Amino acid sequence: MRNSDSILEFKNVSKNFGGLQAISQLSFRVERGQIFSIIGPNGAGKTTAINLITGFHQPASGEIFFEGQDLKRKRSYQIAHLGIGRTFQNIQIFQNMTIRDNVKVGLHTQSHSGFLRCLLHTSMVKKEEEMIRRKTDRILEFLGLDAKADLLAAGLPYGDQKRLEIARALALEPTLLLLDEPVAGLNQIETDEMSDIINKIRANGITVVIVEHDMNLVMGISNNITVLNYGEKIAEGSSQEIQNNSKVIEAYLGKEI
Ligand SMILES: Nc1ncnc2c1ncn2[C@@H]1O[C@H](COP(=O)(O)OP(=O)(O)OP(=O)(O)O)[C@@H](O)[C@H]1O
Ligand SMILES: [Mg+2]
Repeated sequence: MRNSDSILEFKNVSKNFGGLQAISQLSFRVERGQIFSIIGPNGAGKTTAINLITGFHQPASGEIFFEGQDLKRKRSYQIAHLGIGRTFQNIQIFQNMTIRDNVKVGLHTQSHSGFLRCLLHTSMVKKEEEMIRRKTDRILEFLGLDAKADLLAAGLPYGDQKRLEIARALALEPTLLLLDEPVAGLNQIETDEMSDIINKIRANGITVVIVEHDMNLVMGISNNITVLNYGEKIAEGSSQEIQNNSKVIEAYLGKEI
């Protein structure tokens, strides 16, 4: 363990796509138990940062540590199993499955019953099925989706699909949850509900990293904020520090934040 309080650390991380420098010498540290936001204008490199943490991309240089462990060359599924869950800017759920089954898919990856045991249908398998059913119910209740559990994902309102994606990520029991634009496309009531959900997730001991354009949400919910512009970190601090930072105001071209 490099630092007892730090769950995630970027050290001089760079990533380019051909000639385009998407992330440049980026360093930051997320303390355990925080809600940490990454903000910045379109194309600033926010999603790329999440894709680097989750193994969708590899850094060109620099290091990323999760709980003191270097994530270099780890595959996405390995990183998920280390305890990092995520949602996507463009929702990725199984549209032709029910809400319940979408969550179960996440839980089955934790199952320990092998093929032979399943064939014999031992008591261990039964116990595991029961455990999965109970966990699924608990997660769906937590996200307020229990009443809709048997509906197909495809027919759900957008706000429910966003919550389902979080439910599925939680099924893996992450210690770190990465949310890429959790309130994009949501109305004010849904946004407030999502804010409560994120606070509840943190209250359950999960560290949360949010990428978001909704400044009301970010300023209200974050313990710490990092601001990217053209792949570079231009500021880091509390909501108040960020709102009064001249570089940040300039990057947003006078937009009120
Ligand atoms: N797979 C890719 N191939 C080529 N270029 C990419 C790829 N992914 C991202 N980029 C480019 O890298 C830069 C950063 O993109 P990224 O998606 O990280 O931005 P972002 O901060 O998430 O923006 P937004 O707020 O619009 O979602 C952009 O210029 C984007 O076009
Ligand atoms: Mg993005």
